[in-house]
Amino acid sequence: MTPVIRCRSSIDHSSIALAGHGDVCSDDTKNYILKRLPDRSELNFYTDLIIPSKLSRYIPKFYGCYQETSPDVFTEEGYSSNAASYLVLDNVARGMRRVNILEVKMGTVQHCADAVPSKVASSLSKCRSTTSAALGFRVNGTYRTGPGGEVIKTDKHHGRGLTAEDLPGVFATFFSDASPAQLDDIRARLKGLQDVTRDRPGIRLISSSLLISYDGGEGDLARVGMIDFAHVEQVSGVDEGYLTGLTSLVALIK
Ligand SMILES: Nc1ncnc2c1ncn2[C@@H]1O[C@H](COP(=O)(O)OP(=O)(O)O)[C@@H](O)[C@H]1O
Ligand SMILES: [Mg+2]
Repeated sequence: MTPVIRCRSSIDHSSIALAGHGDVCSDDTKNYILKRLPDRSELNFYTDLIIPSKLSRYIPKFYGCYQETSPDVFTEEGYSSNAASYLVLDNVARGMRRVNILEVKMGTVQHCADAVPSKVASSLSKCRSTTSAALGFRVNGTYRTGPGGEVIKTDKHHGRGLTAEDLPGVFATFFSDASPAQLDDIRARLKGLQDVTRDRPGIRLISSSLLISYDGGEGDLARVGMIDFAHVEQVSGVDEGYLTGLTSLVALIK
């Protein structure tokens, strides 16, 4: 069923975004994420690429491309280059009371094959000066909710300053409210995603992220969701950089 999305502008919906370009918000229920599309490129991933069903398990459900049809009400109208269009996705924190989200940017190399030399140089330098080149991911942000509902966030600049030696402590802190069952669940999902990644040669995800979420306290929900598909390349082999990132993540979640 296609939901109608309500998004009262008086609410600060943007606090849900950990990184990105600031064009993401949630709806009133916080069940859905709306991402404003600058062009069709990310929409093509959802609509034109045949996504293997085993992979779609790791991608938050896509409800379509929406437009604002009356103030603060969004309905499925498709993409238009004249009006602002939004992807509507399930929130990886849907149904969670004490939301905890870790966002990692995946890959050892994060530029497109046709990137201009200045972009290649700056992207390579970011990968080499962070954990990306060696570990296949870097922390892009964290969102934690404490027992009293207080929110503690870190951003991508904090993540870029982290070394491989810092990560065990960062992960231990982030997962300190997760139950052993939630940790097992997350590790199993990451291993499942490793298997699918090995089995789906042909696609390279560039600068895409992985969101790892769990409900802290008494909750038992845990999820792993792939997002940000503005740059997807067709390649002949397997996405080795993505696999390196998944292997490093599994090793760090204890
Ligand atoms: N399905 C989702 N569930 C929860 N948060 C999301 C979801 N999709 C995006 N976000 C949040 O929105 C931010 C920006 O989204 P992203 O797709 O990375 O946009 P950009 O292309 O601007 O980088 C992410 O860093 C993440 O915090
Ligand atoms: Mg992003």
